[in-house]
Parts: sequence; structure tokens; C-alpha cells
Amino acid sequence: MNIVGTTAVFGVIGDPIEHTMSPIMHNTAIAHMGIDAVYVPFHVLPEELERAIRGMTALGIRGMNVTVPHKTRVIQFLDRLTGEAEAVGAVNTIINRDGLLMGDNTDVYGFITCITLDGGLERFPERVCVLGAGGAARAVVYACAMREEVSKITIINRTISKAEKIADDLTPITGKVISPMPAEKEAFHKVLPSTDLIINTTSVGMYPDVENTPVPDVSLFHEGQLVCDIIANPAETHLLRDAVSQGAHTVGGLAMLANQGARSLSIWTGMDAPADVMLKVLREQFFKG
Ligand code: ATR
Repeated sequence: MNIVGTTAVFGVIGDPIEHTMSPIMHNTAIAHMGIDAVYVPFHVLPEELERAIRGMTALGIRGMNVTVPHKTRVIQFLDRLTGEAEAVGAVNTIINRDGLLMGDNTDVYGFITCITLDGGLERFPERVCVLGAGGAARAVVYACAMREEVSKITIINRTISKAEKIADDLTPITGKVISPMPAEKEAFHKVLPSTDLIINTTSVGMYPDVENTPVPDVSLFHEGQLVCDIIANPAETHLLRDAVSQGAHTVGGLAMLANQGARSLSIWTGMDAPADVMLKVLREQFFKG
């Protein structure tokens, strides 16, 4: 890496940030693209968020990814939002256009791309079930609801009011039937067997909680289903192992991470970012030992 006076700076803000895989993923892509840029992590506490965003224009930082817990609160400090960021109500990418800060959400693209490229599908699934109702669930529900192939979306969440809120917000925008249900045994048994695509957006099964799964009954999976877990660590969750054991097809969280990152880098640079190179380096990091 050769940093000079003209080097463009990109970065990611979050709290905590020390375990982020984004710098290695983006800097590998930057080297592959042969551009004069660098990508750095910034640890930004919630009470420093506004000053950090103002600093972006002062310092001429060209683009920033935004991660937990800032994706929603950051919106008030930006000048404009894309339609997707506005509908989802969360920003994971900021673009600095000569001092004007635009908020975008590339999780929507990242999710759809990993499902269509890695899902082994001839056609996007019709009946979808989203587990969880946090910020990530909103992007996934919106992404699915915007697909014309999708006819029905169920959101199953421990806190039913949060699932209801997403359904209330996104039904009028997307025109799709979005049904909230509580995370109880009956709901899983009623919904999952007749679902074509199941996506876990909860943190259940995430490191260090690796022995847990949001779907307690393995018999609810079957061949012909696609099961996606957006958890990136571990790369293969308990949920995905259970789904595979029943003959379902699976997509893990590293693919979504790589595709959302590639989309951000493409938007910032105006060049095609190599999602395959980014996924490869993520896999190497996770499986190196
Ligand atoms: P993110 O922005 O990554 O989506 P989040 O907004 O904190 O994160 O959402 C986390 C999701 O995981 C929520 O749906 C949460 O359920 P609640 O809405 O009931 O809090 C879900 N979740 C976290 N821990 C859980 C657990 N032990 N059992 C079931 N759901 C859990």
C-alpha cells in the first residue's frame, strides 16, 4: 500500500469496531482494482456520531460504511437519502459528493445478490419467512417485498410489536402482504414447512452463542427450501448445518457481507468492485485457523 497526498480515504464507523472484517475486504479489493485509495476503521461512540459525520466533510473522507449501532441514528446528520435507505430507515453507506452527504443502503443489494447468485435458484422464491425484526430484518423484508416473484412474507420475532411495526411501515410502500407472528412453536410449525426462503436476521447463533439456533425443530426444513443466515461469524451457523442435514440449500452471511461491500465500493469509485475477490479474502480470514 502506497499512501500519498492524493490517496482517497474510505472507512467504516461503528461501536465496537475492532473485529470488523471490512478493512481487509476493502483494501484487498482496492489493491485488485489498482486505485489510489485506502479504507480504515473508526471507533465512534454514539455521543460522538454527529461530530464524526461533520468531520467527514471537513477531512474530505470520500465514503463511509456505517455499522452497529449507528445505522438509524446517522440519518439525521445526512443531507439526502436514496429511496432504498429511506424505505429501510437505515444507512450503511455514506457518499461524500463535494461536501453533500448522501445516505444509501447497500444491504438490500447485497442480500438480493447473494440469494440470486448463490441460492441455486431458477426463480426467486415466492413465500418468504424472515426471522427477527431488527434493523437487518427491515432491509431483508424490503428487499424481498420489492421482488415481483414474492407473494407472501411472514416476520417471526420474539417481540411481536417490532414485527408489526415493520409490517405496518413496509406494506404501504411495497404493496405486499407482510404478516407478523410471535416466535412460538406454533408459528414456526405453521409457517416454515410451506416457506420457500427462510432468512435469519436475529443474533441467535452468532459467536460466541454458536450452539444456539433460532429454529429449534430441525424437521421444519426440507429439500427445495433455501435457508439464508446473515450471521457472518461463524461462517456456517447451527441453523445452516440443520438446514443442510434436511436437504435444504443454504447461503451464509459472508456472501452478503462481500456483496454489500462491493456495492459500496462501486458507488464510491464509479468502478466495478470485485465481489468474488472480497468474498475469497473473507473466507480465507475465517478458515485460516
Ligand atoms: P440488527 O440491527 O443486526 O438487526 P437488532 O436490531 O439488535 O440487530 O435486532 C436483533 C434481532 O435479534 C431482534 O429481532 C431480536 O429480537 P427482539 O426484537 O425480540 O429483541 C433478535 N434476538 C436477539 N436475541 C434473541 C434471542 N435470544 N432470542 C430470540 N430473538 C433474539
